[in-house]
Amino acid sequence: MSIPTSRSHPDLGPRRTGLVASVPMCGIFGYVGSRQDAPWLVLDGLKKLEYRGYDSWGIAVKQCDQVQLEKRIGKIGDAQTTLPPSGIGLGHTRWATHGGVTDENAHPHLDCAGRLAIIHNGIVSNFAELRRTLSDRGHTFRSETDTETIAHLVEEELARTEDGPDRLVCALIDAFRQLEGLNAVAVLDVTSGHLAAAKSGSPLTLGWTDDGALLASDYSALLEHTRKMTFLDENQAALLTPNGMRVYDVQTGQTIVPVITEVAWQAEAANLGGFPDFLSKEIHEQPTVVRQIARDKAPDADSLARAIVQARETHLVGCGTAAHAALVGQYLLARVAGLRVSFANGSEFGYLERFLGPGALAVAHSQSGETIDILESMRAAKARGTTLAALVNVEGSSLYRLADQTVLLGAGPERSVLATKSFTAMLAMLLLTAHALVDRIGEATALLERAATEIEALLADWRRDLIRQIAERIYCQEHLFVIGRGPSYPLALEAALKVKEVSYVHAEGFAGGELKHGVIALIEPGTPCLVLAPNDETHADIMSGAMEIKARGGMIIGVSPEPDPAFDHHIPVADVGEATVIAQAVPAQLLGYYLALLRGHDPDKPRNLAKSVTVK
Ligand code: G6P
Repeated sequence: MSIPTSRSHPDLGPRRTGLVASVPMCGIFGYVGSRQDAPWLVLDGLKKLEYRGYDSWGIAVKQCDQVQLEKRIGKIGDAQTTLPPSGIGLGHTRWATHGGVTDENAHPHLDCAGRLAIIHNGIVSNFAELRRTLSDRGHTFRSETDTETIAHLVEEELARTEDGPDRLVCALIDAFRQLEGLNAVAVLDVTSGHLAAAKSGSPLTLGWTDDGALLASDYSALLEHTRKMTFLDENQAALLTPNGMRVYDVQTGQTIVPVITEVAWQAEAANLGGFPDFLSKEIHEQPTVVRQIARDKAPDADSLARAIVQARETHLVGCGTAAHAALVGQYLLARVAGLRVSFANGSEFGYLERFLGPGALAVAHSQSGETIDILESMRAAKARGTTLAALVNVEGSSLYRLADQTVLLGAGPERSVLATKSFTAMLAMLLLTAHALVDRIGEATALLERAATEIEALLADWRRDLIRQIAERIYCQEHLFVIGRGPSYPLALEAALKVKEVSYVHAEGFAGGELKHGVIALIEPGTPCLVLAPNDETHADIMSGAMEIKARGGMIIGVSPEPDPAFDHHIPVADVGEATVIAQAVPAQLLGYYLALLRGHDPDKPRNLAKSVTVK
């Protein structure tokens, strides 16, 4: 297998040079107001949203009653705009669903007259039928996207709508009602000089400032301008004008009083702060996040514990990394509190929720609070009378608003596509909750403090160097296997996910006892295996597994408090009791990080991924 040479990176030293892999982007950003720098404002907003991992971008502004467009494929990176100054602009970064990655398919899309520019996140599931009908009525399509149908639909509705101050949003609402699927749409109209937006699935947030109205898919992109936000709810629309904003109910078409929230996050928290990339920044923030949870979240843990005690049955649910956190939670609640709860992936929970009802508790785990697989199954469970709790990192997100009881993780903006600090924050919350169930929360606080100190030690230069050297030994390997037992089993799944999503090395995590039931056939001399061997009841058995791998020539990388003759490499992680599982998460984050750098990949924006997946 040929491995690309990595780029020069401060964390790898000057030795290696080469290419950075090309990276996709995403997001929605809009502005209308008294400032005349809308093209730059929008471009800057889109750059802040690039972590979501899409593949082309575009901006529309108004100049002399015409739409001026700039659309390009590829990453936004350091792109500059050639658009003229304007007081209104709308931009988008795309993750392709309908139509390939081309300039034509990049958003914004125009109506036939070139009066409207439309951007969209989501999937219009009845787009083929709409496109046929609109073509039959004489509309000309320039792209292969489902989005362009919306531009022509709004064009038709605008022609039917009486003139008035909210004509644009009324037309958008009428068009939006004809769309099937989960969508967020925004439109710029050069005639009125207004923006309008509507949403039924993907997130949209309005930002209130003294010099204009802002719109973004993720509110972290608005923080530089304001902390006063309105989170649009399902089936709400908004009109943005230089004089202010109004919110509407899509079903009734009536205006509603917007709820304005002052969010806690500060703008600086969303910046690199001297780190070379967001992944390393967020890995390094973990001690602070874990300490904050120990300090601030005992009341939340108590109330979550009460909800669990009151429930007839409890289900922990999440997707991706959050699913692994939920699965660790299942073990922690059993070990610490003797309580058996169930676990399900968000995308699978829907097949079980029909058996739930009043008395059941679903605890949703989600960094973004926008993952559609979680939201759909949670909405369905709630409709059956299931109580909903959420561990979520983004205030005002859809899950935050849906849940009956929300624990805000307080990990701050997570901008690398890889979830790291939100994962350890979830584990810290679950550890507190497990101890709250048996009135031992003080003990958990002390354990979290020890875990934070141990993570700091893991981030010290010599230990990072050790992990980097291991990465240098294995970065040309095709496979990596990870084994763990008990709470270290979901951690093995998470370790494998970290490695594969950022470095593209095939990595698989297993319950320690399972590898021998088939996959051991893949172990060859030199195959690297990460063995999670904490000082708990799993130690002896996991070491037997390590010996079985070693007997077939596997290279054992042991993660444990003490060295062992079976280890070819040893990453020391101290025993911090039940909190060991939190500290143990860090070596694989660093290993994935260094493998990505060595293989020449951008650690923040792995190919094909998105930070929050808002389509099914
Ligand atoms: C995507 C991301 C993962 C994340 C998962 C769940 O797949 O790439 O990093 O773990 O979504 O996201 P959530 O925001 O719900 O925790």
